[in-house]
Amino acid sequence: MYRTKTCGELRLENAGQEVVLAGWVQRSRKMGGMTFIDLRDRYGITQLVFNEKVDVELCQKANKIGREYVIQIKGTVQERESKNAKMPTGDIEIIVQELNVLNASDVPPFTIEDNTDGGDDLRMKYRYLDLRRSCVRANLELRHRFCLAVRHFLDSKGFLEIETPVLVGSTPEGARDFIVPSRMNPGMFYALPQSPQTLKQLLMVAGMDRYFQIVKCFRDEDLRADRQPEFTQIDCEMSFVEQDDIIRLFEEMAKYLFKEIRGYDLGEAPFLRLPWSEAMRRFGSDKPDMRFGMEFVELMDVLKGTGSFGVFNEAAYIGGICAKGCAHYTRKQLDELTNFVKSSQIGAKGLVYARIQDDGSVKSSVDKFYTPEVLQQLKQTMQAEPGDLILIISGPDAMKARKQLCELRLEMGSRLGLRDKNKFALLWVVDFPMFEWSDEEQRLMAMHHPFTAPKPEDVPLLDTDPAQVKANAYDMVCNGVEVGGGSIRIHDAELQAKIFKVLGFTPERAQEQFGFLMNAFKYGAPPHGGLAYGLDRWVSLFAGLDSIRDCIAFPKNNSGRDVMLDAPSRVDQKQLDELYLSLVDPDKGK
Ligand code: AMO
Repeated sequence: MYRTKTCGELRLENAGQEVVLAGWVQRSRKMGGMTFIDLRDRYGITQLVFNEKVDVELCQKANKIGREYVIQIKGTVQERESKNAKMPTGDIEIIVQELNVLNASDVPPFTIEDNTDGGDDLRMKYRYLDLRRSCVRANLELRHRFCLAVRHFLDSKGFLEIETPVLVGSTPEGARDFIVPSRMNPGMFYALPQSPQTLKQLLMVAGMDRYFQIVKCFRDEDLRADRQPEFTQIDCEMSFVEQDDIIRLFEEMAKYLFKEIRGYDLGEAPFLRLPWSEAMRRFGSDKPDMRFGMEFVELMDVLKGTGSFGVFNEAAYIGGICAKGCAHYTRKQLDELTNFVKSSQIGAKGLVYARIQDDGSVKSSVDKFYTPEVLQQLKQTMQAEPGDLILIISGPDAMKARKQLCELRLEMGSRLGLRDKNKFALLWVVDFPMFEWSDEEQRLMAMHHPFTAPKPEDVPLLDTDPAQVKANAYDMVCNGVEVGGGSIRIHDAELQAKIFKVLGFTPERAQEQFGFLMNAFKYGAPPHGGLAYGLDRWVSLFAGLDSIRDCIAFPKNNSGRDVMLDAPSRVDQKQLDELYLSLVDPDKGK
């Protein structure tokens, strides 16, 4: 037997017992004639004691053991003289009688402690060592519990977990596909699914009624803190439902998960449902962080054409936020904020500020262009009080300027400590536009995906003004993160064909790409709809992580590489030949 107990379970009541433990050496220290080793496994850390006076040979053997050696010991549990209240096993130690080295270890490249000295890249390369750290392991444990709770909840609501294939066909909409060449079908490719969207709809046509799957999805898109090229969805679909049914059920699931996993009560009240246009107007975002206010105030009437500031006079949008009590911001702090909005990531041309002085007068960076009356008007419109700081962004493109102001709002929220990781603000964003214009493609694209149903009252607009059509789509947002999204689907082949037409598909191409779905709709498709939650995003929110990477066992880095496996990598010419592939210039993309 390798062990009779784990390193996390021994307590004072075990004193006197003989035990066998196995694990990794966290650290070892020699004090006089005694050697202490902290032995670690998944369950915790237990202190081992070797006493020179009792067994010199054993103690010498212990002194040769380095960090991360795998050892097995036999010993007796004893009450500690100096207890450690910070450790669950801190009341006891093991007086070791037998020591067996199961495996030696090189010196690890970083310390395996919560406060490690290892940088990101190094920890990624040795991820299996990083995962030994208890804070990283805790994230995977949380993920496991989360998945169990999801399965329990959905099962209780009659959902069936059904697997869908990973080798599927490429679809032109959405992000870029990862493609996989087929040896048995020379010159042909599978694609890895960006989501099982069409397959889950076919399961509805098949009468499965309620489907879910905790499923890997693959998207070849630019990566960010909350995006990985392969990530996991909790993918769900239901038949004979309306938007309200889906929203209510998944709201119940969110409340259940918060309570079960996070011990956080979201209360009885339904989540706010915020129309997309309002979210954009008030927060410049379709995923507003509602943990704090600082809402946008539009200032076109107040500042455009009322003074000689050319930038505002030419703007398509001028908006401000009021940072309470920040009038004392120094020149340096204001410069930092200006540099922040002017950074290449955000791209604003500049930042205008106005301080409300103690006497109620306004001191701003555009004083010379406006009369004191206009500046007082600004103060009133912003509902600013003495001590407040008004920050203003403008631009020739209203949508872009709003997004820049959104980034500034979030930055100010962080600076003012308003984005508490232990506080959660959930809402639904609803009434999304069906389509958005793509400059790259020079055509309308589906904002959600092409299978989303338009609002029934907007269907006539498909022929006259498709840009105005709203969708039966909804996103769940938590603390400024889109944790899930879905829609009611089109279940009518004719309407689906019409949407493809608006999206610029010829009937032939629509048939070629999506014929399998449109044909299925001819055989009695039920009304249906669904949603997919981003599992990685949920877990990282629950764990208070800055990046979803930290709750994924083996994540990719920001360039989409697995630095531990050194993937992607080149393949042998023989493999390419088998697939009838030749590389034009393998170094071109470097
Ligand atoms: P959507 O594309 O909105 O919808 O994705 C659903 C949810 O998946 C998560 N997500 C991601 N998480 C990590 N990395 C990524 N690259 C990534 N992309 C998306 C988000 C998002 O809300 N088939 C539809 C769902 C439906 O209509 O039912 C879909 O995939 O949390």
